[in-house]
Amino acid sequence: MTSSHRLHIGFSANTTWLSGNAWRRPDSGVYPGGFGDPGLAHIKRAEAAHLDFIFRADVLYNMGLGSGELDPNLQFAAVAGQTSSIGLVTTASTMFIPPYYLARQLQSLHWLSNGRAGWNVVTSLGGHGNFGLDEMPSADVRYANARDYLEVIRKLWKSFPRNALIADRDSGQLIDPDLIQQIHHSGPFHKVEGPLNIPTHPAPLPLFQAGASPTGRDFAASCADAIFASCPDMEAALELRSDIRSRAVAHGRKADDIRVLPGLSLFLAETREAAQALFADTHKGIGDQRKIDYVRDTAGIDLTSIPANTRVTPDMIQRPQTVRSRTHADLLYRRIEHDSPTVEALLNSVEVTGSSHWPVIGTAQDAVDQIVAWHSAGAIDGFIAFPGGSMASYNLFFDEVMPRLVALDLFRSSYEGNTLASHLSRY
Ligand SMILES: Cc1cc2nc3c(=O)[nH]c(=O)nc-3n(C[C@H](O)[C@H](O)[C@H](O)COP(=O)(O)O)c2cc1C
Repeated sequence: MTSSHRLHIGFSANTTWLSGNAWRRPDSGVYPGGFGDPGLAHIKRAEAAHLDFIFRADVLYNMGLGSGELDPNLQFAAVAGQTSSIGLVTTASTMFIPPYYLARQLQSLHWLSNGRAGWNVVTSLGGHGNFGLDEMPSADVRYANARDYLEVIRKLWKSFPRNALIADRDSGQLIDPDLIQQIHHSGPFHKVEGPLNIPTHPAPLPLFQAGASPTGRDFAASCADAIFASCPDMEAALELRSDIRSRAVAHGRKADDIRVLPGLSLFLAETREAAQALFADTHKGIGDQRKIDYVRDTAGIDLTSIPANTRVTPDMIQRPQTVRSRTHADLLYRRIEHDSPTVEALLNSVEVTGSSHWPVIGTAQDAVDQIVAWHSAGAIDGFIAFPGGSMASYNLFFDEVMPRLVALDLFRSSYEGNTLASHLSRY
């Protein structure tokens, strides 16, 4: 299994290069004026590099550490009119927002950007307390809800097609009422009459999905155009891509209908030593206690009084009944099962510090070499770039990594279309 197509590349519009301790660096570019800036300069830069899309992860609770960002749908509405080609992939949870409201919001963004919106379907990491729930429903209930939710959204997007808007001034016919239909949806979780109150844009609105437990993979394989994945190493990406492609075929789709796009965490500098220093500097702000809490809550192992050079072995794992993300928990167990790392190595692993995203800590050429290796092994269809640590790392991505991928003919040198669906087509 190889990837013969060119890469699909997205760029995180979350301010990831300010993560950890990085915001304190003089070259961080952190903006103390508040939240009035929708990140247009970064997004324009991604568009100038002809990236497929910009991407915003999002949650509906305060994750701490001042980590909040603008509502992504509003942020992208603000940049839609200032950009012309780049896709705008927003994250919205199926847990807390009524589907009618989201169906309309997403189509509004799709119209405002003329066919460039995408929806990353998530079932939420938390936030139930902000929406009147006493506890977070289990992951399987959340996925069952997501299936019903998506059915509502799809029906609503069919309920008022673009061609129902006739607007014939001579005859006085504004709409064709026969084409606008109620949906009368009555599912296990949602009851919605329809129709939607705005027409559906003619360009398809691509779906992304994040969450890679077996249930999550199956859900993605049934409906998503792309999966945003956490792949700490190439082996994990190979396993995920091969599995998700077979699952897509089992759902009557083509294997190529779903693209595997891991998060790529980039700590780039002119030399490997400088990149390692940047990584260390960024992470020294993250206290050990937070990491210890994460391992205890996810794997039931209390590392508090275990010496740093002691190995953490699989028999120490006590899987709790519920975890925030089974995907991330399974990747943590996998690391312990594969490597039996020392306490110190485990606390500094990407499974604990970096959402299990593919880490490249090195030069721009190191990043290019790894991307080429993963792509030619058939582990990825592309990636979502998360530059970390400094503006310099971010600049190296655009100034060095992207042009080299274009020179290798692994990425486009100009846009062939102006919708997100056209960027995601195989090329
Ligand atoms: C790579 C990745 C990114 C995610 N991003 C978000 C996010 O931005 N917002 C959110 O609420 N949940 C996010 N999630 C959570 C998932 O949507 C899901 O609720 C959770 O992982 C449980 O699904 P699972 O059992 O398949 O792991 C993410 C999960 C993964 C694996």
